[in-house]
Amino acid sequence: MGIFFFSLLFHVFLLVLHWGFPVESAYLPNLQAFETNPSLHVINQSKRAGHHANGSNNIILNPTFEDGPSNWSGKGCDILLHESMGDGKVLPLYSKFFASATNRTRSWNGIEQEITGRVQPNLAYEVTVVVRIYGGNITNANIQTTLWVQNPDIHEQYIKIAIVQATDKDWVQLQGKFLLNGSPLRVIIFVEGPPLGTDILFNSLVVKHAEKVPHSLRPFMKNEAFGVNIIDNSNLDDGINGWFPLGNFSLSMEFGSPIELPPIARNSLGFQECLSGRVCLGQIGSGSASPQIVNVALSVDGNWVNGGQVEFNDESWHEVGGSFRIDKQPSNVMVYIQGPAAGVDLMVAGLWIFPVDLKARFKLLKKQTDKIRKRDLILKFSSSEAINASGAFVQVKQIQNSFPFGSCITRSSIDNEGLVQFLVKNFIWVVFGNELKWSWTEPQQDNFNYKDADELLEFCKNHSLEIRGHCIFWEVEYAIQPWVQGLNKSGLITAVQNRLTDLLTRYKGNFRHYDVDNEMLHGSFYKDRLGKNIQATMFKISHQLDSSATLFVNDYHIEDGSDVRSSPEEYIRQILDLQHQGAPVGALEFKGTLTIQWGRLADDLEVMLREAFAHPSVEGIMLWGFWELYMSRENAHLVNVEGKINAASKRYLALKEEWLSHARGYIDAQGEFRFRGFYGTHNIEINSPTTKINGTFVVDKGESPLAITIDL
Ligand SMILES: *[C@@H]1O[C@H](CO)[C@@H](O)[C@H](O)[C@H]1NC(C)=O
Ligand SMILES: *[C@@H]1O[C@H](CO)[C@@H](O)[C@H](O)[C@H]1NC(C)=O
Ligand SMILES: *[C@@H]1O[C@H](CO)[C@@H](O)[C@H](O)[C@H]1NC(C)=O
Ligand SMILES: *[C@@H]1O[C@H](CO)[C@@H](O)[C@H](O)[C@H]1NC(C)=O
Ligand SMILES: *[C@@H]1O[C@H](CO)[C@@H](O)[C@H](O)[C@H]1NC(C)=O
Ligand SMILES: *[C@@H]1O[C@H](CO)[C@@H](O)[C@H](O)[C@H]1NC(C)=O
Ligand SMILES: *[C@@H]1O[C@H](CO)[C@@H](O)[C@H](O)[C@H]1NC(C)=O
Ligand SMILES: *[C@@H]1O[C@H](CO)[C@@H](O)[C@H](O)[C@H]1NC(C)=O
Ligand SMILES: *[C@@H]1O[C@H](CO)[C@@H](O)[C@H](O)[C@H]1NC(C)=O
Ligand SMILES: *[C@@H]1O[C@H](CO)[C@@H](O)[C@H](O)[C@H]1NC(C)=O
Repeated sequence: MGIFFFSLLFHVFLLVLHWGFPVESAYLPNLQAFETNPSLHVINQSKRAGHHANGSNNIILNPTFEDGPSNWSGKGCDILLHESMGDGKVLPLYSKFFASATNRTRSWNGIEQEITGRVQPNLAYEVTVVVRIYGGNITNANIQTTLWVQNPDIHEQYIKIAIVQATDKDWVQLQGKFLLNGSPLRVIIFVEGPPLGTDILFNSLVVKHAEKVPHSLRPFMKNEAFGVNIIDNSNLDDGINGWFPLGNFSLSMEFGSPIELPPIARNSLGFQECLSGRVCLGQIGSGSASPQIVNVALSVDGNWVNGGQVEFNDESWHEVGGSFRIDKQPSNVMVYIQGPAAGVDLMVAGLWIFPVDLKARFKLLKKQTDKIRKRDLILKFSSSEAINASGAFVQVKQIQNSFPFGSCITRSSIDNEGLVQFLVKNFIWVVFGNELKWSWTEPQQDNFNYKDADELLEFCKNHSLEIRGHCIFWEVEYAIQPWVQGLNKSGLITAVQNRLTDLLTRYKGNFRHYDVDNEMLHGSFYKDRLGKNIQATMFKISHQLDSSATLFVNDYHIEDGSDVRSSPEEYIRQILDLQHQGAPVGALEFKGTLTIQWGRLADDLEVMLREAFAHPSVEGIMLWGFWELYMSRENAHLVNVEGKINAASKRYLALKEEWLSHARGYIDAQGEFRFRGFYGTHNIEINSPTTKINGTFVVDKGESPLAITIDL
């Protein structure tokens, strides 16, 4: 079984990785997928002065109604200006006036301004809107800001910028970003959302170039002693000195330790000796049958930092491995080993913490990489009487490593020329962000939308990109479109069957992979309603309908030790369970997020990529996007909206280059040239007086030396 994953946390100590929730947009009917980072702030009145609606960068005309209603119009409703409303309870936050969008009869009615000509394509814009709701007998409702774009081919597009829950009590600020592709004929920005009968009150709108936020610098650590354990009395040679109980229980010493050092400690520290003692943190009671969590946690100046955890319910020794990074010079750090329920004894045989020497670690990883991603090659040159290649100079340069690097794309990605160029040059796999999800392909029952997926598929075929189908189902309730949520059991069974048949028949043979039921450790929508077997059934039917596709189990937070729902143990348990029920599970996927702390995305990305590439079970890496604003996260891009590559991108490209074979030398007397090369397509050039060759050969995966005959 292969492991195909997005990213991973490693069992190395004090590695510089922080992990957050991966963000996938859930149900977004009728909107082009365009991830932004909406945020809600109730505005602090004393910060008014900082609002620059009037600023010269704002492309909105008359942004705070100083010129009356000029330049604004009602979209399906009437616009009125006010100095106050509700007996003076509602006053403008900025300036003298605010507008109300009233007499609304549809939720999409609201206020709009045309910005054609003032907004430029391929630039990031930041939008800030100040709104609240009024009347209609409700106290809160969603308000969203959307762009309507008319493209030269007359196709219309709605780009969601941000959504916020507004209230009738306070002004709220709605913020988001957008980016336009191509040269649209017309662009209108509008604010809409609440149910009819409720007015939208609208105080100001700012649309301006997004400012770049400079990253702060990495903290400077003096005298980093890489690989040196910083815990005193680590393996309890000196009794319980330096250890103390936290809470009302006592520590005691016992003897008889695990015979072998656990693998992480052994591999990382190179210890040869056995552990010599153990300490028993004693409490009343004698164990428990239910699984217990043991966690290593640090308190860094009062903030908790997770150092890894395990979950188990047997009485054997387990290793807790983890890594953490401290963001600034701390003044007080405590480390805790904690977790099991009251009444359960916890035994600790040792604890080591040491700064990771990335250089040394990379050296080790390069060795592993060399072992698993390359093979010995013997190029045999078929000599004849006319041609004797011996002695000729050969140059081999790899064109393409066959290791799958991929990226997420969306329907709007393929309208961006720069994005497409970078994609086809640097990736050989893709996954669609939302376009294949059920909520996208059938937002209302029997109302199908395969247009976006079809267009993306055609694009991939045009560029020979392999595709992961993401996802047939999604087990998490919030991601499920309302009509599916409203079905009764028999209706849901039919709908699930239809979804499988429609999707897998339509795209048979097109998707090499499928994520069958997204995030089964983080949701149980189908399982709760249709029984435990439904997940295995989804796999079985998918396989029957398209046996050419590898079926994936995928989830997040597997390796970061912060989420008990998706510990490695839970993941294994789930997969074995599925297999036991006959589910043809073909591969696993580990999703994760690199959260950048100090503009160190490049460093973190390199660690992630090197670790993954050196791991024998990893068979591919997908990034969830790479182009600024075409990603679900801010500041996670490799290329900015203007097409400039950043440090992370340079690192990625340098690694891709490092993972291409280069070899040169002379053909020996036996007519052979030997080297060790990566799997994939190579170019060979010989340019000697007697022999001229310029051709390609492919190195397939395998461990034994591979002989390749080159015909002269
Ligand atoms: C509002 O901002 C001021 C100045 O930044 C700050 O002192 C005050 O605590 C803030 N009030 C609230 C309620 O956040
Ligand atoms: C904005 O409104 C002003 C005042 O009504 C008008 O002179 C101007 O032409 C308008 N601008 C646009 C682009 O509509
Ligand atoms: C914007 O400019 C107008 C006219 O210059 C001024 O009256 C108004 O107070 C300004 N509004 C803000 C929010 O600064
Ligand atoms: C709302 O609609 C009613 C009926 O069409 C009309 O009488 C009223 O003037 C409208 N209100 C505004 C503020 O335009
Ligand atoms: C508002 O709600 C109250 C109670 O929920 C109801 O009695 C009243 O008729 C409603 N008013 C309107 C205008 O819908
Ligand atoms: C500590 O635990 C002991 C034994 O369970 C108990 O008798 C005692 O009351 C506890 N003390 C406190 C302060 O909880
Ligand atoms: C795919 O290629 C064909 C032929 O060149 C072209 O007509 C079509 O527009 C392309 N489709 C996409 C989505 O790129
Ligand atoms: C389930 O829903 C369908 C469609 O709404 C309905 O025809 C059927 O009678 C319902 N079945 C049960 C058992 O309620
Ligand atoms: C080719 O040439 C090399 C040295 O130039 C010689 O050793 C070798 O025997 C020759 N091979 C054949 C097949 O003629
Ligand atoms: C060999 O072929 C490659 C790709 O086809 C080309 O880039 C290169 O210039 C060629 N080399 C020679 C010496 O013709």
